[in-house]
Amino acid sequence: MDVVRVGPGFAAEIRGVTLGDVVRSKAAYAAVRAAFEAHSVLVFRDQDVSDEKQLAFSRRFGPPEVTKVGSMGTGSHFVILTTIGPDGKVVPPDHRQALRSKANQLWHTDSSFKRVPALTSILSARVIPDHGGETEFVSTRLAFELLDESLAKQLENSFAWHSYAHSRDQIAPGLATPEEMAVLPPVCWRMVWRNPTNGRGALYLASHAYAIEGMAAATGKKLIDELMAAATAPGTAYLHKWRQGDVVMWDNRATMHRGRPWPAHEPRLMIRTTISATEADGLAGMGLPSPQAAE
Ligand code: OGA
Ligand code: MN
Repeated sequence: MDVVRVGPGFAAEIRGVTLGDVVRSKAAYAAVRAAFEAHSVLVFRDQDVSDEKQLAFSRRFGPPEVTKVGSMGTGSHFVILTTIGPDGKVVPPDHRQALRSKANQLWHTDSSFKRVPALTSILSARVIPDHGGETEFVSTRLAFELLDESLAKQLENSFAWHSYAHSRDQIAPGLATPEEMAVLPPVCWRMVWRNPTNGRGALYLASHAYAIEGMAAATGKKLIDELMAAATAPGTAYLHKWRQGDVVMWDNRATMHRGRPWPAHEPRLMIRTTISATEADGLAGMGLPSPQAAE
């Protein structure tokens, strides 16, 4: 297996190992897992992808999420990201499906708004527009390591509130439905996620983050905005230009990503599988301690 760096200080292309190899071989999984822990974003080119093959590969890394209400693919292990409507035609730009793909164009990490956050997301391109539609990544681990020591220390002991409705409100008020809000109340996570395999911390931030526990609303929001800006500063991103057969996986604990726009009349179809984080992935201690637990 060859690991070829493709981004600025993170993100790598894996050569010589296929998704199928990872499913069949413990050694291939171990090698890819180690590269995942080290590089945060892994690119596999020229894969023979199907839903089943993608899911079998994904399951190697942990328990697959069940797609939430309100997302295409609900109840299955797949999230269908597309602007192609049920009639096979591209939906108009003000259609819910188009607005939801717009929300993915805000810098975020997947599932930080859920009760169980995600370790990794695995995304495959099925219909690729001729122009644009790239996916862009930054390393919140590198961003964390660039902070001055006192701020890093402060953040290590800070907790941020994440809400699905907050990120959707930035696109269109009411984009999150009452049904979604009922099953997705705000959740609170430590602002630094430490990787248990290498000890490196990463900022845990997203478009879903809106407040810092114990801080005045405006002060907390301002700090989140500043950290988001620092983490996504010019020159820090890896822009993935999709080709047929590409599969990209990323570490939701240590990166943020966003979709890039494409001409509204061009179809795009992506399929995502998402793996929940477990204690072994450093999840223990990420939640806000209850008052009793803190004593
Ligand atoms: C995702 C996502 C962006 C894109 O799959 O989680 O944010 O480019 N995708 O489709
Ligand atoms: Mn996403």
